[in-house]
Amino acid sequence: MSDKEPLPWRAAWIVGASTGLGAALAKLLDGRLATVAVSARSAEKLNALHSASQTIVAYPLDITDESAVAQCYREIESKAGPVDLVVLSAGTWEVVTPPDLDPKAFRNSMEVNFMGVVNVLAQVVPDMMKRGSGQIAIISSVAGYRGLPKAAAYGATKAALINLAESLYPELEAKGVTLSIVNPGFVETPMTAVNDFPMPFIMPVDAAAERLLHGLERKRYEITFPRRFTWIMKFVRLLPNAIYFWIVRRFILQSS
Ligand SMILES: NC(=O)c1ccc[n+]([C@@H]2O[C@H](COP(=O)([O-])OP(=O)(O)OC[C@H]3O[C@@H](n4cnc5c(N)ncnc54)[C@H](OP(=O)(O)O)[C@@H]3O)[C@@H](O)[C@H]2O)c1
Repeated sequence: MSDKEPLPWRAAWIVGASTGLGAALAKLLDGRLATVAVSARSAEKLNALHSASQTIVAYPLDITDESAVAQCYREIESKAGPVDLVVLSAGTWEVVTPPDLDPKAFRNSMEVNFMGVVNVLAQVVPDMMKRGSGQIAIISSVAGYRGLPKAAAYGATKAALINLAESLYPELEAKGVTLSIVNPGFVETPMTAVNDFPMPFIMPVDAAAERLLHGLERKRYEITFPRRFTWIMKFVRLLPNAIYFWIVRRFILQSS
């Protein structure tokens, strides 16, 4: 165990932890909880995390497979006991822009980013509500605040997650279960490495994971970073449509 401050959880399950934000968070939690269960499709990357760790255990999983999610959750609980922190970081990003509006891209984005989250919630929420405790974080994005060019599929899934979290929060809170929605701006991960457009205020993944952990420890409902960018996006969310579309035309479409 680490000599850092104790954390308020015993067993965490991070889904989407083979790379990026999920992997960075797993490394931050390693040695500070009894178990850090990590899931994603890439068993090889999860096993590499496990090999270099004290408490990380690999549970490979495709989050779109509802019965596999149920089986994986049962396996984790049978080995590690009740999971009291669940972080849903699995996600996929695909440019979708007119005229090429391929339904497959929308379906895949929804299956991973939205239904994948639902598949996990369906398993963990009833147990947490029965126990009257537990914490869940859903990683959405500031791309869910307003529609952005290229993000017709991705943004829609993230907007759906923001709405889902708002819908569930009060009833979970009433039963002692904490739900957080995490809305990052740009973070340096394999997901953003493919982007060929400007990414203002992009932040290193380890700093982003620190900010995520900080928000989780404080049980914040909404966790955002980097702050300068997310505050701009929050302001932009309040603008009337005519001004918003002018900004998009002037600053986003012309620079892409
Ligand atoms: N990076 C950013 O700037 C940024 C900004 C806002 C929001 N986000 C959100 O933050 C979350 C983490 O993204 P990231 O930036 O860390 O990207 P990343 O490095 O690409 O991580 C995505 C993770 O999701 C996993 N995953 C993808 N499909 C999956 C599936 N079907 N089943 C299980 N796991 C799956 C990937 O692992 P496998 O491929 O091994 O399955 C990987 O571990 C995502 O929800 C993303 O939308 C990122």
